[in-house]
Amino acid sequence: MKQSILDIIYMVGAISFIFGIKMLGNPQKAKKGNLIAAFGMTISIFGTIFLYEGIKTSNYIWIFAALIIGTVVGTMMAKKVKMTGMPQMVSFFNGMGGACAALISLVEFNHLQHNPETTSLSTLAIIYLGLIIGSISFSGSIIAYGKLDEKIKDKTLPLQQVINVGLLLFILVLGGLAAYGIISNPIMIYVVLTLSLLYGILFVMPIGGADMPVVISLLNSFTGVAAAMGGFLYGNMVMLVGGILVGSAGTLLTVVMCKAMNRSLTNVLIGNFGGNKSGGGEAKAMTGSTKEITKTDLAVLMKYSKKVVIVPGYGLAVAQAQHVCHELEQALENEGVEVKYAIHPVAGRMPGHMNVLLAESNVSYDKLIEMDDINPEFKTTDVVLIVGANDVVNPAAKTDPSSPIYGMPILDVEDAAHTVVFKRSMKAGYAGIENELFYSPKNSMLFGDAKKSLTDLVTELKNL
Ligand code: TAP
Repeated sequence: MKQSILDIIYMVGAISFIFGIKMLGNPQKAKKGNLIAAFGMTISIFGTIFLYEGIKTSNYIWIFAALIIGTVVGTMMAKKVKMTGMPQMVSFFNGMGGACAALISLVEFNHLQHNPETTSLSTLAIIYLGLIIGSISFSGSIIAYGKLDEKIKDKTLPLQQVINVGLLLFILVLGGLAAYGIISNPIMIYVVLTLSLLYGILFVMPIGGADMPVVISLLNSFTGVAAAMGGFLYGNMVMLVGGILVGSAGTLLTVVMCKAMNRSLTNVLIGNFGGNKSGGGEAKAMTGSTKEITKTDLAVLMKYSKKVVIVPGYGLAVAQAQHVCHELEQALENEGVEVKYAIHPVAGRMPGHMNVLLAESNVSYDKLIEMDDINPEFKTTDVVLIVGANDVVNPAAKTDPSSPIYGMPILDVEDAAHTVVFKRSMKAGYAGIENELFYSPKNSMLFGDAKKSLTDLVTELKNL
């Protein structure tokens, strides 16, 4: 009876994960989707604690102590984190998932040691795979967290890639031999664990810090696969479905990000983008000069415009200028100007960064227009405000084959009548290259922190 109820709970849990993740694809439904998936996870956890046959009541104290500590720490971290700190938090949480998967393998291996009659090749293979993938994901995610938080610097050893590939092959061979029983010493599981943890560190250490979002998404898929191994091990449907969903979502996201940057995964993993080993050659040196615009002149220009498009980028998140950006949008609309936002798929530092940021300040979703839909509209746009964005509007992606970003789809802002770039200096963006848009006769620069510039603009506009 208990098992039947548990099976139903697991089925409801698995279905809620599928619906939850589907709803995450739509900004209006994302919050609800998150809650639905969290509901599925909660009933699955409590169903397991109270209905699973094997759980000893004497373990309840440990289980609830861990649940309480995890809930308090997780809630505090999630409440405190700034939008720009989200990638490192995702990485940290992902690392914890990988550690759990690796611990499950260790615990189950010890069970097998005490019940050798239940040992089989497939069980051992699943245990070793879960251990290897989970521990790589754990140590790799923690290094990624440290790098994004600027606590750890990029470090490349001589012959790094050879060492990495060699070590990975060695781990797989060792794990295979142990699973087949050719090496039967139980100490082997700890050797594989240690080497996998080391591999996770060596794998992430040399990757350019700014490439971490792609790596995190890849590590996320590793954690999903490691969790699915746990699902196989226990014959637990909800763990299996959850693991497969995380694994496939992480893989799809990695592919989408690479595509949007026009880079292969190999280039991300060994290319050191924006650093000294970038995928392309040397970018063209800039000639010509830039011109500045005053806030008063820009306010006048916008007031007499029909259509203004705002391109948000990483700098908007750094400046936390999303609320004042929405104020400017409202002030312009009060003047009868049509305002839209142009969303590039990799603007910012993680997928959907700009959508989430602008949703925080209640910008209406139907004003957020994806790249392919907004690009034809730039021809009929009077002014484009490029707020803390750089690479995603760099025409070199279309015109300079030697540029590291050549081939990356970009927003065609140069088709508009005027462009204005809001930034603090002439420093490059993420890709570390100059932007020829800044030197275009149709472009003006508005130097300063984005939040301050936008706040002053709203005031200017209201005073006109
Ligand atoms: P970036 O090219 O990084 O440019 C951001 C610009 O914001 C910089 O030029 C910076 O110039 C400016 N800025 C920073 N703080 C500012 C502040 N307080 N006020 C005003 N301006 C400020 O950003 P982007 O255009 O959004 O492009 C994103 C890049 O990240 C792309 O190259 C993309 O491939 C990469 N990437 C994105 C993702 C995802 S999924 N989003 C994942 C991996 C990589 P100053 O320093 O002069 O102010």
